[in-house]
Amino acid sequence: MVVRLHLNENPWDLPPEAKAWVAAQRWHLYPDEALYDLVRAGVAAYWGIPTESVVLTNGADEAIALLMLWHRRVAFWRPAFSGYAGVARGWELDAVEIPLGPDFEVPWDAMLEARDRLLFLDRPHNPSGMCLLGRAQLADLLDRWQAWIVLDETYADFARESLTDMFDPEGRLIVLRSFSKSFCMAGLRLGFMAVPRSILKPLEVRRLPFNVNRLALYTALWVLERPETFQTYVAAVRQERQAMLVRMARLPGLRVWPSEANFILFQGPRHIEGLVRRLAEYGIQIRNLENVVGPGAARVSVGRPEDNAQFLDVLEAYYAAEISGRLAVS
Ligand SMILES: Cc1ncc(COP(=O)(O)O)c(C=O)c1O
Repeated sequence: MVVRLHLNENPWDLPPEAKAWVAAQRWHLYPDEALYDLVRAGVAAYWGIPTESVVLTNGADEAIALLMLWHRRVAFWRPAFSGYAGVARGWELDAVEIPLGPDFEVPWDAMLEARDRLLFLDRPHNPSGMCLLGRAQLADLLDRWQAWIVLDETYADFARESLTDMFDPEGRLIVLRSFSKSFCMAGLRLGFMAVPRSILKPLEVRRLPFNVNRLALYTALWVLERPETFQTYVAAVRQERQAMLVRMARLPGLRVWPSEANFILFQGPRHIEGLVRRLAEYGIQIRNLENVVGPGAARVSVGRPEDNAQFLDVLEAYYAAEISGRLAVS
């Protein structure tokens, strides 16, 4: 069995009753406007956003693509979620990457040079897992920014605080959310954006008809009626994350960043390939981030307790052997 700890998925699947209910819906029909609007209303009520501001998308990914293809002049941090650079590169957009500091410090003044661009901010940030800006900093940035700012809250349910409530239909903040993480729906592809009134039309005309499929819409109806199920999953991920952080912080020579997401970034003393290979022997996949963060860097998702325990055992044994090996050499 492969243990996927490389894509920040939720390790738990939806309950069988959810699947049975969704499977019993009519698959031969298009996902019509009435169904789409029902989910929109559910999303609006759950997150406290006006219904007319909500645009449902095929994962947050589609929201990112729609926004980028509309504005075309974009900016985002480096590193940040790889999807930003992927869309910008794939569509040959005019993109500026704003380098973060060695410990993911935000270069506030340098950032303002891009203030006429559509800015993407992932909070919590992927890959560090940290919230790199707070409420007051976002408010200040909005005051000084000339274009729109996209607050990507894909992982916000795992964080201490969400800033979705800063959305204002008359303002310049766009908020992205995903059903992939806390709501266990990565395979169904559903996300949404809260969009200010002034730019709703250009985005709506670019959205493909029936962009969100019927199964995703029915599943969303099911989950939005039972948010306590997901709050339980989120609590379990947070608890596991804390336990992993404590154990990882004890390893000498291992750098670990304090995550507010469902994954942890770490950096070992040597190249990561050996650890990736060792974990693969146990069927565990993690994400090699050496090209993005630096030598020895990788990201691991918070999985089920038994998988995390296996990961930690392998990690500890690997670095213990590395360190004693190095002591023997020196
Ligand atoms: C910061 C960030 N935004 C957006 C996405 C895309 O999410 P979705 O599965 O909703 O397309 C991801 C996926 O991992 C992500 O890390």
